Formats: sequence, C-alpha cells, structure tokens
Amino acid sequence: MSSVLNNVLQKLEQKLAEREAQGNLRQLKSTTGLTDFCSNDYLGLARSEQLKELIRQEAEKHRHLPIGATGSRLLSGNHPFMEELEAHIARFHKAEAALLFNSGYAANMGLLSAVPQRGDTIFYDEASHASLKDGIRLSFAKAYPFRHNNVDDLRQKLRLATGQVFVVAESVYSMDGDKAPLQELAQLCQEHRAALIVDEAHAIGLYGSKGEGLTVELGLEQQVFARVLTFGKAMGCHGAAVAGPAVLRDFLINFSRAFIYTTALPAHNLLALKCAYQLLPDLRRERERVNQLATYLYTELNKLNNIRCTPQNSVILSVFLPEAQQLKPLALALQNEGFDIRPVMSPTVPKGSERLRLIVHTFNTQQEIDGLLSAIKRHT
Ligand SMILES: Cc1ncc(COP(=O)(O)O)c(C=O)c1O
Repeated sequence: MSSVLNNVLQKLEQKLAEREAQGNLRQLKSTTGLTDFCSNDYLGLARSEQLKELIRQEAEKHRHLPIGATGSRLLSGNHPFMEELEAHIARFHKAEAALLFNSGYAANMGLLSAVPQRGDTIFYDEASHASLKDGIRLSFAKAYPFRHNNVDDLRQKLRLATGQVFVVAESVYSMDGDKAPLQELAQLCQEHRAALIVDEAHAIGLYGSKGEGLTVELGLEQQVFARVLTFGKAMGCHGAAVAGPAVLRDFLINFSRAFIYTTALPAHNLLALKCAYQLLPDLRRERERVNQLATYLYTELNKLNNIRCTPQNSVILSVFLPEAQQLKPLALALQNEGFDIRPVMSPTVPKGSERLRLIVHTFNTQQEIDGLLSAIKRHT
C-alpha cells in the first residue's frame, strides 16, 4: 500500500483508538431472539402479518412497476402513484401538500439547507436530532440553539434575529421522549412572525386520533409552517415526507438538493407505505395499549432507587446511572437475560447524558415488562 494511504489509515485508526479509549466505540450488532425494547416499531407495523398481506396484494396490483425507481423524481423516477400517495399523506396530516424524501435524514437536510436563506435566522432546540443540525449547518442562514424546551430562552434569543426567522423543534424528542411545548412555541412564532418547523418523527402513529401526529392532535396545523414526517418508526416502513404549503413543495422540488440529486424511493417501498397509511387510523387500541404499558414501565422505573429516569412519561424512556461506564455492562447483562436494550453514548447524546434508551411497543407484554424491571433491579 502506498505511504499516502498508510498515512490516511493511521489517522483513522488513531481516531478509532481514541474513541475506544473513551468507551464510545460504535459497532454494528445484530440481535435475534431477544425481546424488543429498543426498536422504533412502536405499533408493531414492521412485523404486522396484516400489513405484509396488504402489501402482497398491492404489489400484485402493481406488477408493472419497475423494481427500482430508475432515476430521480425530476427525471425517470416519478410516477402518478407517488403523487397520489403524497396527496393522501397531505390530506391525512391536514396539510396543503406533501413531498416524499428518501429518509427522515434526507428530509431534514433537504428542508433546512434549502429554505432559510442568507440573512435569515434559525433558532433550534439544542436537543434537535443530528439530521436537523446537519441541515442547519448546510444552510447559509445564521443559527442559534435555544435551551431544550425552554420557551423563555427562545424568547430572549429571538432578539438576535435578522431576516425571516425559523424555529425548529421536534414534537417528541428522540432521546428523552418528552414533548415540545408546541402551543407555546406556535404562539411565540406567531408574535414574531417566525416560521415553525416541527419534526414529527416520533409522534406520527402515536398522537392524534388517527395517528396524524402531535401537531394535528393539538390543532396546530395552520400555525406550523412545515412538518417532517418519517416512516421508519411507528409506520414500520421507510422514507419521509415534508408536509406544508403547496408553495413549499414547489420550492423543495426546485431547490432542495437532497430531493433533486438522488434516485427516488422504489415502488415496493411506497406501496408498503400506502398500505401502512391504510391501517394507521384503525390502530386506536394499539395506541392506547402502548401508552398504558409505557405509563406502567415509567411508574415502576421511578420506584427504583439506583437509577434516574427521564422526566416525562412516554413510549421512549431513558435510564441514567451515576457513571456512564456502568451503562454498557448493564445493557450487556440485560441482553444476556433476553432483553434487547442498547446504551446511547456520547457523541450521540451530550457527555453526561449517556443513557439506556428503552422503547415500549404495543406487542410487549406485561410479563416482559415485569421481567425487564426485575432484571434492572437485580443489576443496579
Ligand atoms: C427526530 C428524528 N428526526 C429524523 C430522523 C431520521 O429519520 P430516518 O431514520 O427516516 O432517516 C430520526 C431518526 O433517527 C429522528 O429521531
């Protein structure tokens, strides 16, 4: 190997060694046969036999469609059924229009890097997902974080605004599972003529009478400028959409590089999504069940002495230990007892807030939750 390549590899190895020394080395892991307390399949749609059957029938009806999209949406990758699906998504979420993206990561990047312009200002919750932060970094607008869920801090920071103001929040935060104060944020945005952007990744499927998300549950769809809907979590599928005004959709088709310069999602992916949307409104009992189980786990976790739990009751719960180094051994001990639980380390979360992230699903049983609680008790 040439010395140039050796140099590059040495630098990479050094970085990896540093990460390993900090106890934060990431490694791919597949677990089979463990009880799922870690996936984002909140409603069990990713494993639903009913959904699989619907998809089979839908695929049969669309046998003529190519396997891959064969190009970007602006070239050979568009198809009328994609636009029909977008219209359905828009109607379902009470938005004027929707535009599909290949993932939530791409949607956040594609939205935030394109819409706020030079001279504009973005204020974003400090706990925002990496995809929102990466989109903001690519934007030419100025950007300021505000303290997590702290509307007063945002109000203070708004004094720094120039140009059009954008405020970015998640309706349900991916790590702590807590909800944003969306009503207060919407009110403040109205006072300051700011455009509110809400990432609904962890809210769709779970909030709203039909699973439309927290924005619809709160009746805020007219006050939120754009929503990012992701389909890899409660929808059990893959991909994402930006929902908002029709002009925003046209703008993204013209200016969002993450939309323009990529091959469109394949047909089978979108047919699966169409079928998941068919089932979603009727999953009321699943939504109730997952919330009941989460409340039970949350209440019982809070009775344990040696751990601290996230402050809000949610299907996403995080458990903190006095020392971050204790997390990996605890996760391993729980995995050895049959529970799929993962630690989340820095830099995915800020130093000092490393945790075990527990996800409750509609398919988890009371017995599994009790088993998990007693295993946590025994190992802490
Ligand atoms: C809040 C939030 N936004 C966006 C994403 C990205 O979505 P996707 O997995 O579809 O890329 C995630 C998922 O990790 C997320 O938690």
